Amino acid sequence: MNWFTKTFSSTVGRKIVMAVTGLFLCSFLVVHLIGNLQLFRNDGGEAFNLYSDFMAHNGVIRFMEIILVLGFVFHIYDALVLTRLNKAARPIGYVNSHPEENSSWSSRNMGLLGTVILVFLIIHLWNFFVPARFEANGGLERVMIEDVEYHNLYSAVVLAFQNPIYVAIYVISMIALAYHLIHGFQSAFQTLGLDHKKYTPFIQKFGVAFSILVCLGFAIIPLYFFFLV
Ligand code: HEM
Repeated sequence: MNWFTKTFSSTVGRKIVMAVTGLFLCSFLVVHLIGNLQLFRNDGGEAFNLYSDFMAHNGVIRFMEIILVLGFVFHIYDALVLTRLNKAARPIGYVNSHPEENSSWSSRNMGLLGTVILVFLIIHLWNFFVPARFEANGGLERVMIEDVEYHNLYSAVVLAFQNPIYVAIYVISMIALAYHLIHGFQSAFQTLGLDHKKYTPFIQKFGVAFSILVCLGFAIIPLYFFFLV
């Protein structure tokens, strides 16, 4: 085993991979949310459909999609391996352990929260990404914008969020995502060694604000289409 494989298959190496991929996935969330804000323009979905078309055909974005998939795969794989190693190291919990007194609920339930997000992601990709890219799951309607034909992803979003079950799934998943990010954000900085008397309280507050704002931004979209459109 060379030093590279050795480093990244050690516990510390896996934690570093989780931290870096987690922060990368956070940056994806920001870009995705900003793109989705086009849905609020009162233009019948024109800006959103043009934006989606650009994202689907731009070479740099397509390359970043591969990195994104790898980010998800490594993040989930290392989470599973670390959970298994933790369990193997301590098959029976400490007799006098009171985890609820010295750790947060989200830090003790990252696996459960991550699983909710993974299930959400599968439903989400099946809803929008699969019809847009592979013409599967019913495909998408077409719309003409200045004599050019585009996929009408906007109408797919409007239709999905007329369904109260989807709205509930999205809102509950965004609550799970918020808790996952609140712990994950500060944990990533700690893993990367950025633990400083002066900066750590700021990083923690920033992490909480970031997690709540991003997840609120996503959760508002299904609620807006269900109640107001
Ligand atoms: C209500 C909120 C959301 C809406 C309306 C939304 C909408 C969409 C749409 C329309 C697509 C297809 C884009 C295309 O193929 O051109 C997409 C793709 C995707 N979404 Fe979302 N999304 C939301 C929340 C999220 C969240 C919270 C996550 C992650 C936890 C996420 C992860 C993804 C991923 C990984 C893709 C595929 C990659 C991509 O096309 O960029 N989405 N989303």
